[in-house]
Amino acid sequence: MRLKNKVALVTGAASERSIGWGIARELASDGAAIVINDIPARRNELEERVGQLNAMGANSVMAPSDLTEPAQVEQMIDACIRAFGRLDIVCSNAGMIRWESFLDIKPATLRALVDINVKGNMLVCKAAAEQMIKRGEGGRIVVTSSVQTYFHFPITPVYGATKHAMHIFVGSLALELAPYNITVNHIGPGWVQTQMNDTSPELQTEASIQSQKEAIPLRRAGTTEEMASAVAYFISKEAAYTTGAYLPIDGGLSISKYSY
Ligand SMILES: NC(=O)c1ccc[n+]([C@@H]2O[C@H](COP(=O)([O-])OP(=O)(O)OC[C@H]3O[C@@H](n4cnc5c(N)ncnc54)[C@H](O)[C@@H]3O)[C@@H](O)[C@H]2O)c1
Repeated sequence: MRLKNKVALVTGAASERSIGWGIARELASDGAAIVINDIPARRNELEERVGQLNAMGANSVMAPSDLTEPAQVEQMIDACIRAFGRLDIVCSNAGMIRWESFLDIKPATLRALVDINVKGNMLVCKAAAEQMIKRGEGGRIVVTSSVQTYFHFPITPVYGATKHAMHIFVGSLALELAPYNITVNHIGPGWVQTQMNDTSPELQTEASIQSQKEAIPLRRAGTTEEMASAVAYFISKEAAYTTGAYLPIDGGLSISKYSY
């Protein structure tokens, strides 16, 4: 129960197959009180996740906010304080992907990707950091970026750019928040079989799934538990002196022969 008396917010955690849900379970099993977020349209799923966390003996509430809306982000942070009186850990994880060649991409899709993957993360980090600074007891922020932070894939150019942007953002924010003892780091999942990948054109047949596995040095997709373990490290006392860091959890994809 290393996180007893700590309060954690996890965004983008409605789906039972999601990385966010893996993170929420990991932190709850270590004793943290959990606020789980997703968009308002997924309220029912959030209710189910809260029920599951509470059945584990955790203390948890939901915050169905659209993170592209500044007022809703503020409401979510207020909900954390109303429910538990403090906020120690923020896992800014919500995101979206679209597989589309850049020449075909519609302005609305481009905007939606940037809105959640860049603006959403920034709004969450800003509101959370303000709260942590006000309380004066430090804090931990962990952003979920992607192996695409450094690794180029075709047909996801905007997604890749938004994830690379998070690397610069996390480093700069880490510098700005260091005087307040707030660390900021990011994890880079490789391939995890969440709903996000259900429509990936590269994962529609057994043969293409197999060829994706063969491109990964460890020859398999990662699990949500493995992503959550990396987050657990960044918020542990062992990582108290680590800030502005990037940890890929990708089975070696980013050091494979196809990387640069
Ligand atoms: N699955 C992978 O292979 C993979 C690889 C690299 C990075 N990632 C990143 O991991 C994170 C989690 O993705 P996942 O794989 O668990 O997929 P997921 O689709 O299960 O989770 C993402 C969640 O974010 C939520 N979300 C989107 N826009 C939102 C908004 N405006 N406000 C609130 N919530 C919003 C979605 O509703 C969804 O539930 C994402 O940032 C994704 O880019 C995933």
